[in-house]
Amino acid sequence: MPSRTTTPADRAAELRRLIDHHLHRYHVLDDPEIDDSAYDALYDELEAIEAKHPELVTSDSPTQRVGAAPAAGFTKVAHLSPMGSLEKVTTREALEKWADDIRKRLDTEEEVAYVLEPKIDGSAVSLVYEDGVLVRGATRGDGERGEDVTANLRTIKAIPLRMRAEAPAPARVEVRGEIFFPLEGFARYIETQIAAGRKPAPNARNAAAGSLRQLNPSVTAERPLSIFVYGIGVLEGDELATQWETLQWLQERGFRTNPAAERLESIDAVADACIGWESRRGDLGYEIDGIVVKVDSFDQQRRLGSLHGRPRFARAFKWAPTSAVTRLVRIHVRVGRTGVLNPLAELEPVHVGGVTVSSATLHNEDDIRRKDIRVGDLVIVQRAGDVIPQVVGPAGEHEPGTKPWRMPKRCPLCKTEVVRPEGEVMHRCPNRACPSRGLETLYHWVGGALDIENVGGSTIKKLWDEGIVRSLPDLYRLPAERLTEVEGYAELSATRAFESIQRSKEQPFSRVLFGLNIPKVGWVIARSLALHFRTADALADATLEQLEEVEGIGPERAELIAEWFADPENRALVEELRELGLQLSLAEDERPPEGRLTGSQYVITGTLEGWTREEAKAALEALGAKVTDSVSKKTTGVVVGESPGSKAQKAKKLGVAVLSEDDLRVLIGP
Ligand code: IVH
Repeated sequence: MPSRTTTPADRAAELRRLIDHHLHRYHVLDDPEIDDSAYDALYDELEAIEAKHPELVTSDSPTQRVGAAPAAGFTKVAHLSPMGSLEKVTTREALEKWADDIRKRLDTEEEVAYVLEPKIDGSAVSLVYEDGVLVRGATRGDGERGEDVTANLRTIKAIPLRMRAEAPAPARVEVRGEIFFPLEGFARYIETQIAAGRKPAPNARNAAAGSLRQLNPSVTAERPLSIFVYGIGVLEGDELATQWETLQWLQERGFRTNPAAERLESIDAVADACIGWESRRGDLGYEIDGIVVKVDSFDQQRRLGSLHGRPRFARAFKWAPTSAVTRLVRIHVRVGRTGVLNPLAELEPVHVGGVTVSSATLHNEDDIRRKDIRVGDLVIVQRAGDVIPQVVGPAGEHEPGTKPWRMPKRCPLCKTEVVRPEGEVMHRCPNRACPSRGLETLYHWVGGALDIENVGGSTIKKLWDEGIVRSLPDLYRLPAERLTEVEGYAELSATRAFESIQRSKEQPFSRVLFGLNIPKVGWVIARSLALHFRTADALADATLEQLEEVEGIGPERAELIAEWFADPENRALVEELRELGLQLSLAEDERPPEGRLTGSQYVITGTLEGWTREEAKAALEALGAKVTDSVSKKTTGVVVGESPGSKAQKAKKLGVAVLSEDDLRVLIGP
């Protein structure tokens, strides 16, 4: 309560100072000192004084954040200095190359330090302060001219209307920063949009940009926007020498700078930090799309200059893509070539990390239920690198009337009851004759395993749909004339396709094995099996123990392989393919040479003095030995050179023979 001697003007000034202090604690430092009701009491008191004494209202009073709408939309304003953009890099090597280039352009002896700041994925703004008071705020626009959105920016409480009095204010300064939606606030905002029956913003960045361009500032005021400032365009009445100093300077004057910023003195440390940030970006509570790396010294920055509006002194390090919100339209279940049921999300098309995404994997039923992803919901879709897009989870509340998802009880294609083997997360269609499985096997055979040119997935689909090809042998029994009946095939292309199919009979045994679709037999295992057993018959008759002798095959895989060959239908398939002319044994030239060391396996580790590793490997292989990369019980011996790694220790642990370079010479002989 004001004392009797305090005038309303004094009290109003004191309240403004107190309110600004608490706004700063809460919105800038993220460290409030008082609770909301205590804050509200101060605010209400100020509002009451100002209502009674309108002459006391100042433009930078906290009560004046939400003002009138600009009468005629937004006017264009020229920035005091252009707001450029950054060149991006995506690898350690590119960062190192950039640092090399900098060193060449500067004096090679000079030290270069760097400042790293998370690259906020929001909307860039410029804020002009004169004598410490915010006079104008604008969007980036085309970099030269933006839109005057002062009225909207004033509503963002992390933006000081007046710079803090503790530090001297310059005559004029243009502060730059990024407006963003904290993710928690974004989720809440999306909910309110949906509740109001509006189409929700596709991502936090769009929502931030859209909020700045609201004609009515009270609409912007309701959005929980914030800012991180990261630089200065123009400064009059003070001088700064480094980016690091600039961040401190801004912070002292009440601006919100990013606490995650750091200064590093080697490009190695910079690269480590940039790469390291990728896994931690999810913990930040706001979206970043990379790390901005800047040369710290302004003197060096000036000497480096810029190229096409992009500074040579800074780079944006980006890990590929991010996430977006869209609607989950349907969940399809596809039956894979080994009978596994894969749930797939059909999405309303959405732009994520530079591409349009309309479908995404959903892994398995447990995963969908754990994340509680429901058809009809808005979901968060994420893309990382070249990885298939993933549905991370629902964005906010479920839509009314949606239900938890369940895997269908029957195979969508053959209606056989699906099973979920004990201890497995995936459901399977147990029907070996399931059309989808057959079709997937054909795709795999033509596209992946045997790599048959001139026969694409759509041809296979048509042949399948018309009932012309329903199995691998069908493909080889197909006369060229039948192919011309397939839509899209002229005589010449039909002949080519036919010839490609016939030529595929020359493909090696290992590829045929891979193409057979034996569970858990990928390309590498298929090759090992082919080399080890040499014929399909020997493989089909192998016991579990014999299978486990092969590198990479443990009990589980051995069992699946034995099971596959125990099925008479599969045996018949192999027989049919053999009769049609496919390779079901190892060709002469595929066979490793027979020799004194046939049947033994060696691993080479460390640096050898007298040979390169390739030479040693070739010498061992010429004698029939296999040379592999990892030590296991199946390894005959480990050849250990200078500074060996963990492989030598592992050999000792497993009781595998350890050979010196001299031993190797003796072993190989003259
Ligand atoms: S420095 C010459 N620092 O990234 C431009 N930019 O492509 C120098 N951004 O439009 C910009 N966080 O909106 C800088 N800590 C940061 C940033 C940052 C986000 C945005 C900014 C700019 C774009 C640059």
